[in-house]
Amino acid sequence: MQRTFVMIKPDGVQRGLIGRILSRLEDRGLKLVAAKLMWVSRELAEAHYAVHKNQPFYPKLIDYITSSPVLAMVWEGPEAVAAVRQTMGATRPREAAPGSIRHDFGLDVGRNLTHASDSAENAEAEIRLWFKPEEILSWDRDLDRWIFE
Ligand code: RTP
Ligand code: MG
Repeated sequence: MQRTFVMIKPDGVQRGLIGRILSRLEDRGLKLVAAKLMWVSRELAEAHYAVHKNQPFYPKLIDYITSSPVLAMVWEGPEAVAAVRQTMGATRPREAAPGSIRHDFGLDVGRNLTHASDSAENAEAEIRLWFKPEEILSWDRDLDRWIFE
């Protein structure tokens, strides 16, 4: 099983979409193993988006992520990194596939609702950045044998 870091960004929380976004991940069969509602500090936002430091959109991205609370989570499943990216859809909502979260709930790249790790290595680093080990639960879901082959 693989773990991935997922965040519902401030627009998703403000728009009351937490439940619907979580439902899509739950419906797919992914398992929630950690979650916290939090106000992101500038320091954490800058560490999380360090790869984008030289991008023209970086200052606006940091303002956006720190503007209001986010829901930070860890989800688990087979190839969870790729599976969750697929459920989120392409970065630009107007290019995202119909049925994906970003397509179905969004329009602008600067209000694209969610974050999900883009590789196994980044997932491990992001989980370490956002969560203490004791905040992540290993638990047996009774349905697992009907979802994971
Ligand atoms: P994320 O990291 O948030 O999951 O999104 P992503 O992998 O699909 O996209 P990435 O290239 O990592 O970009 C990070 C976030 O920066 C904002 N962005 N704005 N104005 C722009 O051209 C632009 N490009 C990216 C988006 O919020 C994007 O999710
Ligand atoms: Mg990214």
